[in-house]
Amino acid sequence: MKLAFKKKSADAAGQVDFSRLPRHIAIILDGNGRWAQKRGLPRTAGHKVGAETFRSIATYCRDIGIEYLTVYAFSTENWKRPREEVDTIMVLLKKYLLEAIDTMERDNVRLSFMGDLSVLSGELRELADRCNDISARLTGCLCSICINYGGRAEIVHAAQTFAEECRTGLVKPEDLTEEGFARYLYSAGIPSPELLIRPGGEQRLSNFLLWQCAYAEFYFTNVLWPDFSKEELHRAIAAYQKRNRRFGGVKQE
Ligand code: FPP
Repeated sequence: MKLAFKKKSADAAGQVDFSRLPRHIAIILDGNGRWAQKRGLPRTAGHKVGAETFRSIATYCRDIGIEYLTVYAFSTENWKRPREEVDTIMVLLKKYLLEAIDTMERDNVRLSFMGDLSVLSGELRELADRCNDISARLTGCLCSICINYGGRAEIVHAAQTFAEECRTGLVKPEDLTEEGFARYLYSAGIPSPELLIRPGGEQRLSNFLLWQCAYAEFYFTNVLWPDFSKEELHRAIAAYQKRNRRFGGVKQE
């Protein structure tokens, strides 16, 4: 499939085979604070631009036919940040969801959420519910925003739900399979990401999608999230397409 691109992004786009894209891309949104500090701005200015970057990357993923995009926006550990920063992130989230409610249908981008949302304000939870309801009528890229999310907490939550179903006699421990367990995770029904991208220069998973990334290809870049562009996405996809995915087997000739 050939797509037209502006000259600036032509090189990396030229290396992407758009007929062989990953179905699911996961991204750790990192580097917002440093992006702002480099410009002498408060860290929260970086989160504001970071939310806009998410909007444009999500729309672009829909354009090229990526089926699932999952982003790590706020971890279970991020509550340790200064109160003002946490409050600003929540305000940005509210603003984002309010705008999404008005534009999702037009844009055909679905929004859903992963994580323990019970600690969020009633208003944010209600907005998240409205996004879920609208998404149920749409078909475009499913963008999952991870909020108050931790990979270990997700697995513990799944295990507790399964144990409770065992206790009530609904299921039996010996019948549990890997596929069956995945249905208890927040990501139930969503295939595992083939490509995990981490901007911001760090090379770690930081408790993100621990179960789901078992066979993901990792792409790390020093680009800070607010500067992340289509061009950088093309680089990540091109790098992924050059990898030899063996899943523990041997190379297919
Ligand atoms: C990581 O950068 C970013 C966050 C912890 C917050 C991300 C939240 C948003 C962009 C707002 C709303 C999100 C969406 C998807 C609508 P960092 O602050 O850890 O950066 P640093 O490593 O440079 O300090």
